[in-house]
Amino acid sequence: MTDRYAVIGNPIAHSKSPLIHAAFARQTGQDIVYDRILGSLTDFAADVRRFFAEGGRGLNVTVPFKEQAYSLVDERSEAAAVAGALNTLIRLPDGQLRGDNTDGIGLVRDLCQNHGFTFRDQRILLVGAGGAARGVLKPLLETGLAHLTVVNRTPSKSLELARLGAAYGPIEGMGFDGLAGRRFDLIINATSAGLAGELPPLPEDCLAPGGWVYDMVYGDQVTPFCRWGRLQGAERSLDGLGMLVEQAAESFWLWRGVRPDTAPVIAELRTQCK
Ligand code: ATR
Repeated sequence: MTDRYAVIGNPIAHSKSPLIHAAFARQTGQDIVYDRILGSLTDFAADVRRFFAEGGRGLNVTVPFKEQAYSLVDERSEAAAVAGALNTLIRLPDGQLRGDNTDGIGLVRDLCQNHGFTFRDQRILLVGAGGAARGVLKPLLETGLAHLTVVNRTPSKSLELARLGAAYGPIEGMGFDGLAGRRFDLIINATSAGLAGELPPLPEDCLAPGGWVYDMVYGDQVTPFCRWGRLQGAERSLDGLGMLVEQAAESFWLWRGVRPDTAPVIAELRTQCK
């Protein structure tokens, strides 16, 4: 029987996950269907219950339900526990639900495997301290980086992330004022500033010579943050399309026990984005 999977979010019409998972399934010969579900803003839990009651095997969860999903599962991975949010639900053979968060692994894999970034001994700046930043905290800290600085417009939230992450690696939290005179080898944008056409208020000289920038969002055009990176002379200015495909590949692996080749899928999406 064909196994059923889906992505649930609101809005959901523009989600690329069905396309990505269909490509993975074709490539690996897995017999699955993968749908889009528009989740109810008032009763998300009922949608999840219905999907699994009707035989669904796994769900991806996206905005704005990742935090709500956290309370719906019977067990969670450690990455999910640190994130306080889930993007992957797995129905176990005994019917229990397990929750995971593959966003951080997706980010790290895109940087390391697809682009050849080496984390070891690097000074990394994570900009933002909302759900997107918290979601990648644990895998990022486990890369062997020299030091992670989390900066946020509301400093209390970056201090809170530093407290949460301290068990996994060297980390500090601060407001933008604290960046004066500091240099970073990689600056990751996890804010939603770009959605409003804004940029986080980073000082001009905070990217070290040869440094990279990474925007966790992507779009049809160069994102404002990637544009900023280019102006700062970044050696590489990357958007989050690769992360999107890599987090999906990790979900696919958790569900099917098979690792798809992400390169052709990233290339296919990249041509669609142009
Ligand atoms: P998400 O789930 O996308 O992380 P979120 O939890 O609402 O969304 O968090 C948005 C993040 O973007 C926050 O870190 C927010 O900073 P505050 O905590 O101070 O609100 C950050 N952000 C949004 N717009 C910003 C801007 N114009 N400049 C700097 N940071 C911004």
